[in-house]
Amino acid sequence: MHSKVLSPANIEKYHAGYKSFTGQVCAGRRCPHFGTEMLEKDGTLVCPMHGLKANPATLVIY
Ligand code: FES
Repeated sequence: MHSKVLSPANIEKYHAGYKSFTGQVCAGRRCPHFGTEMLEKDGTLVCPMHGLKANPATLVIY
C-alpha cells in the first residue's frame, strides 16, 4: 500500500530537489523538471505536476 504521508527523510529530499531548480529558467514556459507546460495562475507560472513556481516575466524558478 502506498502512503501519501512523506517521512521526514523524504520531505528533506523533496526540498533539496526543489531547491536544485531555483534560479533555472523555464524556457518556452516549460518546467525544467520534466518539460511540462507551466500554467499562469494569479500572476505566477506554476507547474501542474509538482508545483514549481516561476516569475512569468523573467521565467526564472523561485
Ligand atoms: S514536472 Fe515536476 S515540477 Fe514540473
